[in-house]
Amino acid sequence: MSYEPQRILVTGGAGFIGANFVHFWLQKYPGNRVVVLDALTYAGNRASLLAAESQPNFRFVHGDIREYDLVSSLLREEQIDTLIHFAAESHVDRSIHGPDEFIDTNVIGTHVLLKAAKAVWLDGGPCPHRFHHVSTDEVYGTLLAGAPPFTEGNQYAPNSPYAASKAASDHLVRAYHETYGLEVTTSNCSNNYGPYQFPEKLIPLIIGNILDGRPLPIYGDGLQIRDWLYVDDHNRGIDLVVRQGKVGDTYNIGGNNEWTNIEIVRLICRLLDEKFAGSEAMGIRFPHAPQVSGSIAESLITHVKDRLGHDRRYAINAGKITAELGYVPVESFETGIRKTLDWYLDNEDWWRSVMDGSYRKWVELNYA
Ligand code: NAD
Ligand code: DAU
Repeated sequence: MSYEPQRILVTGGAGFIGANFVHFWLQKYPGNRVVVLDALTYAGNRASLLAAESQPNFRFVHGDIREYDLVSSLLREEQIDTLIHFAAESHVDRSIHGPDEFIDTNVIGTHVLLKAAKAVWLDGGPCPHRFHHVSTDEVYGTLLAGAPPFTEGNQYAPNSPYAASKAASDHLVRAYHETYGLEVTTSNCSNNYGPYQFPEKLIPLIIGNILDGRPLPIYGDGLQIRDWLYVDDHNRGIDLVVRQGKVGDTYNIGGNNEWTNIEIVRLICRLLDEKFAGSEAMGIRFPHAPQVSGSIAESLITHVKDRLGHDRRYAINAGKITAELGYVPVESFETGIRKTLDWYLDNEDWWRSVMDGSYRKWVELNYA
C-alpha cells in the first residue's frame, strides 16, 4: 500500500534540488500543500521559487532548521504530514575551508528536525507521517577504477567534512526510526545537474566561465569520475521512495552515467562552440567568450591544484530502487546537458545575480 502525502514541508526548498523539487511536486500534485523552510544562505535563492509563489497552496518561510520552536510550530500550524529534508551546506570545497557550518546545519540541524518531528508526530499519540532525508553517495567514500558501484550495503567511509556531516545525519535519521519508531526513509544520490544550480558547482561554473572568457579550473589531472543524474530524475526517485519505499530503508538513486571531469568539461566546451558557430547573437551577448576572437572554449582549460582528500570516483548501483520501486531515469545525459545549457543561456539574469550576491536586491525588486 502506498503512502499519500497531503501537506509537505520542504527544508532547503530555495536551493538547487529543493527548488526543482518544489516545481516538480506542485506540477505533479497540485492539490498538495507545499511549505518551504529555508534560511536563504548564499546558496538559497527565493528567485528560484518565483513560479511557485503565485500558487495559493504554496508558502515560503524564511527560517533556520536549527530553530526547534519554529520547526515544531510550523509542523503543527500547517498540519504537515510529510517532511522532505534537503537543507544542508552542500559544497565540498567550502567544507574543507570551513567545516563548522557543515556540522551545525547538517548534523545539529537534522537532529532538530528529527526531535521536532518526534514531538509533533509521535509524542501526542502517533499520526500518519513520513520523514524523508535527502543524502548523498559521498557517505560511501571513494571507489577504485573498476570496483563495483556503491550499493546500500556498502560500508560508510566519508572522506570530506561535508560527507562526514551527511553520514552523521544519515545515522541520526536511522536512530530515530530504530529507537522511537519515527517513519523515515533516506535516499543517497549521485551528482545532480540541471537548472538553478549555484555556479560554484562544476557544470554551471564551467558554463559561466566559458561565456565570460574566464579560465576553466580543473582540479589535478581531471580524471576523477562522477555519476551524473538530471535533477528531476532525482526528484522522481524521491517521490517513489516517499510513496512506496519501505519505512526505515535507504535507497540509492543514480543514472548509471559515469564521466571523468575533463570529459564533461570538454563536452560543455564543444556544445558551446556549436552555439557560437550557429548564432551571431551569442557573440554580441557574450563578447568575452573565446569563440568571439576566433578561439575555442577548450583554450580556457587550466589545471589547478587538486582538492584536498579528493575522492577519485563515485558510482551508484540503483538496482534496489529499480527492482523494488520500478525506478528508471527518463533523461539521457545527451538531452539533460543540452536542456541545462539552454536553461543557463535563457536565465543569465538568475546566475549573474546569484554569483555577484545581488540576488537579494533582485528578489526585493521582484517581490516589492
Ligand atoms: P544547495 O546548497 O543548492 O541548497 C541548500 C539549501 O539549504 C539552500 O537553499 C540553503 O539556503 C538552505 N539551507 C542551508 N542551511 C540551512 C539552514 N540551517 N536552515 C534552513 N535552510 C538552510 O544544495 P543542493 O545541491 O540543492 O542539495 C540539497 C540536498 O541534497 C543536500 O542535503 C545535499 O547534501 C543533497 N545532495 C545533493 C546532491 C548534488 O549533486 N547537489 C547530490 C546528492 C545529495
Ligand atoms: O556526489 C554527490 C555530491 O555531488 C553532492 O553530495 C554534493 O552536494 C555536490 O556538491 C556534489 O559534490 P562534488 O564535489 O562531486 O561536486 P562539484 O561540482 O563540486 O565537483 C564535481 C567534480 O569536479 C569534483 O571531482 C571536483 C571537480 N571540480 C569542481 C570544481 C568546482 C573541478 O575540477 N574544478 C572545479 O572548479
